[in-house]
Amino acid sequence: MTVTAKTLDDEVAVTYGTEAFLSADYARAEKEKLWPRVWQQAGRVEDIPNVGDYFTYDICDDSLIILRVKEGEGKDCFRALYNVCAHRGRTLIDVPEGSNGVRGNTRRGFTCAFHGWSYDLEGKNTFILHDFDWHGALNADCTSLTRCRLDLWGGFIYIDQREEEAESLKEFLGRAGDILDHFQIDKMRWKWRQYCIYPANWKTAIEAFMEPYHTTTTHNQLTAYAEFYAYSKQYGLHSVSGFDQVASAEATTEGGGVSRAGKGGDPRVSTYELAYENYSTINNAASTDTLIEAARRLKDELPEGTPVGEVMAHWMKSAKADDAARGVVWPDVPPEVMKESGLAWTIFPNTNILHGVTFVLAYRARPYGDDPDMCLFEAYALERYPEGEEPQTDWVKADPLTEQDKWGIVLSQDFNNMKWVHKGMKNRGFKGALPNPHQEQKIINAHRNLAQFMGRGEPRLLK
Ligand code: FES
Ligand SMILES: [Fe+2]
Repeated sequence: MTVTAKTLDDEVAVTYGTEAFLSADYARAEKEKLWPRVWQQAGRVEDIPNVGDYFTYDICDDSLIILRVKEGEGKDCFRALYNVCAHRGRTLIDVPEGSNGVRGNTRRGFTCAFHGWSYDLEGKNTFILHDFDWHGALNADCTSLTRCRLDLWGGFIYIDQREEEAESLKEFLGRAGDILDHFQIDKMRWKWRQYCIYPANWKTAIEAFMEPYHTTTTHNQLTAYAEFYAYSKQYGLHSVSGFDQVASAEATTEGGGVSRAGKGGDPRVSTYELAYENYSTINNAASTDTLIEAARRLKDELPEGTPVGEVMAHWMKSAKADDAARGVVWPDVPPEVMKESGLAWTIFPNTNILHGVTFVLAYRARPYGDDPDMCLFEAYALERYPEGEEPQTDWVKADPLTEQDKWGIVLSQDFNNMKWVHKGMKNRGFKGALPNPHQEQKIINAHRNLAQFMGRGEPRLLK
């Protein structure tokens, strides 16, 4: 029987094998069947503010130059060009192995280092050495750089490698995109961004961040401050997870996501303790200084015995006022949207977004070469800043297993699972995954969708 969206909604238990993680043949097939057939998050608009600014985005064997061609907003201000010279195929912008792309500025265009063929920002050829040797056989079509579809969402530049007419980015994102639109991620800016080459398949890596089911064990120190029971829910290609209310006393329409009251008798204190612990051990992400400071003051600003709902409402109200005073305006997210938005989204196939009204903590994982045992893994934080106070950032490479100080305790704990999960799946004693139908549905949904693209690896009902 096929595993459908309804199977997931009904929380029926399923299993799936390890081929998608381990097989070199599967990894090769992804290059044709998966990546060139989905919208891919390539980078952020803020990285190319001026005409001629560019960054490279590599996926599998393809490399693209994402560049700004016009001032202003909207997708027409940007281009995605394949990073390959039309002459004999030399890469135009060299992306060093082990780097995370190249960012630069070129006012005029691109010149190939091999024989000097040149291109303008639109990819049109502007110079061919000794072009008379071709006796007029060359034309604009064959001598231009190849273009790729591009669109914008949430301040991200997405690319789509499909040549035939395919669904729009808006259609691809569906309800997930509509919900996250309320959070105005396009107005946020990089806070920090780090990456590593990690010894596990890209799916093993991204799945480590898809469910809070692991929190109780992997991040056990956090259980002193909160319970981590979670639901998860498919939204077609994408999916969401959120905390279930363990104690009804925690139920509130304010806050939401990671901004919630912790456990303990006094929500004025526990709210701060949980928020501070999360924030400080996850590399100052998934919250903001403003929210933490407003949480710290709850004890002084509210009388003892204030109900949890009022504590949360006061926290949000005072943080919002503090931000407004420094020029950071919160978007109004309707309470029903806030509730539906949950804690974190998986946008198929390879990105996770943990969102708040003033912050995002996100992850992206990509294949690394043809090796199913390696990936390029990135984590980054976005935040809403007063205009002109956005930090200047760039990708920082940090070793996942030895540079714990750069990643923080929580991410280091996650890294300490991923490679062992990947190794464990190779063990002939492993009989296939048994994902939690309630709490790990995002992962089941990812494999349901992967199977649609790949034509293999479909989850099976357990009984
Ligand atoms: S390969 Fe680029 S100019 Fe020859
Ligand atoms: Fe984790």
